[in-house]
Amino acid sequence: MNTLPNVLRSALPSGDGPGVLLRAMARLEKSPRADRLADVLRGAVRALPLGDARDVLHGRWLGHPLHPALVQFPIGAWLSAAVLDLVPGQRRAARLLVGAGLVGAVPAAISGWVDWAELRRPQMRVGLVHGAANITGVICYACSLTARCRGRHLRGRAWGFCGAGAIAAGGAIGGHLAYRQAAGANHAEQVAALVPPGWHRLIALDELSPGRPRRIPLGEVTVVAVRTGDDTVRVLAERCTHMGGPLADGSVVDGCLVCPWHGSTFRLEDGWNVTGPATSPQPAFETRITDGQVQARLAP
Ligand code: FES
Repeated sequence: MNTLPNVLRSALPSGDGPGVLLRAMARLEKSPRADRLADVLRGAVRALPLGDARDVLHGRWLGHPLHPALVQFPIGAWLSAAVLDLVPGQRRAARLLVGAGLVGAVPAAISGWVDWAELRRPQMRVGLVHGAANITGVICYACSLTARCRGRHLRGRAWGFCGAGAIAAGGAIGGHLAYRQAAGANHAEQVAALVPPGWHRLIALDELSPGRPRRIPLGEVTVVAVRTGDDTVRVLAERCTHMGGPLADGSVVDGCLVCPWHGSTFRLEDGWNVTGPATSPQPAFETRITDGQVQARLAP
């Protein structure tokens, strides 16, 4: 017996394939309709004179994106306001929470847009709709606060519930962006699990030109080796932790390897992400030269 209503059943995946929601997201990922707008916005966000604050907003200091942490505050405040709206005599507290959520939404939105500007095209498309839903939510809550301040509490509540709906939709789309499209994830997390322990022969030392990154397969992964001295070779995992960019196509600058896609800079010595947008360091390998052969093993 079918216990789910038809509308819900069509939204969920079934044995026949993806449901309405997943199909809609797949269409959105492929739709070029808003690409021009996205390009303009990306240019504007990248041109913001943020300096070192840009890495702070990416969450490099935190080791993962800052945006999901910052959104907790406005969402928490607005959800609490929605609960208080259902309780008699809590108008003042609800109004305060709506206002606090609006203040908290500012840094959350800025960090989100800074991350968004470094995404790949299909992720940008989904991210744009995620942002649009959240902006709609913020506008609803601004209207809600205005109405509450004017003593129109019923209208204020109605705007608040509309805002909650928009924010919930934005959150669901954000979930697709983070978990389905892996925006913000560490794209080298699996390296430690795929490289067998112990030393592995990579290449003859003579085959490496000083300062020129070289892509080398190592079992299930690829690594990038850079000869930095007569007998010194540095080895990192080759796919960038930010979005999987090919570090072997990057450039070596001041003892660091710069990703060709978005410019994350990784210290060759230990993989530390000196600058973002990467928030995770690059897996680094210890190296030794034996009989003219470069060997590497994953650094602890
Ligand atoms: S893929 Fe974005 S910085 Fe490397």
